[in-house]
Amino acid sequence: MIRIGFGFDTHKLEQGHPFWLGGIHVSHPKGSTGHSDADTLIHAIIDALLGAAGLRDIGNQFPDNASEFKNIDSKVLLSRTMDMIRSAGFVIGNIDCTVVLQNPKISGYIPSMMETLASVMTIDPGQISIKAKTSEHLGFIGREEGISAYAVVLLEKET
Ligand code: CDP
Ligand code: ZN
Repeated sequence: MIRIGFGFDTHKLEQGHPFWLGGIHVSHPKGSTGHSDADTLIHAIIDALLGAAGLRDIGNQFPDNASEFKNIDSKVLLSRTMDMIRSAGFVIGNIDCTVVLQNPKISGYIPSMMETLASVMTIDPGQISIKAKTSEHLGFIGREEGISAYAVVLLEKET
């Protein structure tokens, strides 16, 4: 049995905030803001995993009004999501993601994001693909006010 899942996330970028993306720290004057560490890419991946498994969404599993999750490292949430996915009997086929960000260029960070995420998820880095796009200076992403990420995942289960 195979199940597909899709996830999306967006966060505001603000001056002087740490910029966590794909589980690593990106060096930039602005960073993403939110209740947790605001790692947009991990949040999109979590939603794709939960969606594929029929387990609702990130806000449902990890409520953002719970003090337990304030400033939490999103890698912890991803690891807990993997526990749920595996308990439900699924293994990951592959994950494909796109980050939409005007600045900075992140292609140099992508190999370490793949390594980091694969290690948290205990899968092979070859099972994760991360792509990056600008928004050609259009809209809130183009004005460098925010970042978005999209992810699709394929889960497999022995029936
Ligand atoms: O050429 P196209 O309009 O499809 O893409 P783009 O948005 O101009 O981005 C060109 C390339 O820059 C991408 O294929 C990525 O490899 C890289 N990129 C990046 O490394 N970091 C970003 N924040 C955006 C794009
Ligand atoms: Zn988020």
